[in-house]
Amino acid sequence: MYNKIKDSTILVTGGAGFIGSYVVEELLLSKPKKIIIIDNLIRGSFDNIASFIENPLVEFIEGDIRNKVLLEQSIAKSDYVFHMAALRINSCAANPSEGFEVMLKATFDIAELCVKHKIKKVIYSSSASVYGLAQHFPTPESDNPYNNQTFYGGAKLWGEQLFRSFHFMYNLDYVALRYFNVYGVRMDTDGKYTEVMIRWLDCIRDQKSPLIFGDGNDTMDFVYVKDVAKANIAALVSDISDETFNVGNCEETSLRELLETLLKVNGSSLKPEFKEANSINPVSRRLADISAAKTKLSFEPSITLEEGLSELSRWYFEKNNLKKVDHDTYR
Ligand SMILES: NC(=O)c1ccc[n+]([C@@H]2O[C@H](COP(=O)([O-])OP(=O)(O)OC[C@H]3O[C@@H](n4cnc5c(N)ncnc54)[C@H](O)[C@@H]3O)[C@@H](O)[C@H]2O)c1
Repeated sequence: MYNKIKDSTILVTGGAGFIGSYVVEELLLSKPKKIIIIDNLIRGSFDNIASFIENPLVEFIEGDIRNKVLLEQSIAKSDYVFHMAALRINSCAANPSEGFEVMLKATFDIAELCVKHKIKKVIYSSSASVYGLAQHFPTPESDNPYNNQTFYGGAKLWGEQLFRSFHFMYNLDYVALRYFNVYGVRMDTDGKYTEVMIRWLDCIRDQKSPLIFGDGNDTMDFVYVKDVAKANIAALVSDISDETFNVGNCEETSLRELLETLLKVNGSSLKPEFKEANSINPVSRRLADISAAKTKLSFEPSITLEEGLSELSRWYFEKNNLKKVDHDTYR
């Protein structure tokens, strides 16, 4: 297959974030001409991009996608765009007006500039949040989004539809990817869904009972961040356009099972403590049907939950131990 990455200039918005930094690492393997990253570091970090910040092929711009001049300067030089910068679901809920500026207005500006500067393809990071509580399990892309109740899910769906309409009106090529519950090394420690793994790792470190709020039977579909990065590359290099794909593991894991696996990989015999659910979770089940991505993008998740949690745990404990050493050194 023709190597679209080699010798191309590729803009990655949010490239210093959790998933974006892995996409950049994957892209570098195919020798691009240049990768431009725009990230305001509201959640991204220099730690995330440490493996490539010194790479001469990478231009890191600490900037905001709400800056249209900056966007245009970067898009004008690019062949392809990964649009990954976004606010978290809880930030959108806390500040919908900022959510509008980042998730809607800036995404509109990006789409318009991509048309103007004849970008060859956009890969748009969408989310399983568009479904709310889905109608079918495993959930196909054709499930309707009426159960979504969040600003974030609505904004992601609007983004998908924006690119779809620009494909229809202006032939802008794009693929949208609906990620399920992404986890792995460099994951954030205060997000709304996946942070539970980090809280439980804190408990394992401190030898305290991990807390489960509710009965622990809510399920999620956990997909390892490196697999998500590979799905992004597959979406770029394929000739597919104007399609949206689920990116999950097609495995339904309850919170209880998640904790059991995390305890197992850490050799811990701690017992969970159950507490009354402190909020009503409108999404009690998640399970992706990934057959479309498998067939059309040759996407195949390769990392099992046990492998992924082992890698995450190793990173977590290394990070914590290092912090302790630093602290002791400066005392
Ligand atoms: N992590 C998940 O489980 C998950 C699930 C579904 C969808 N997604 C989507 O995937 C994409 C990447 O998510 P992530 O988990 O890596 O999150 P992340 O927060 O680590 O990455 C997003 C990046 O965008 C940057 N950013 C935010 N607002 C910006 C702005 N105005 N200008 C410039 N940069 C800005 C942040 O600093 C951050 O580095 C996002 O679009 C997110 O909505 C993530």
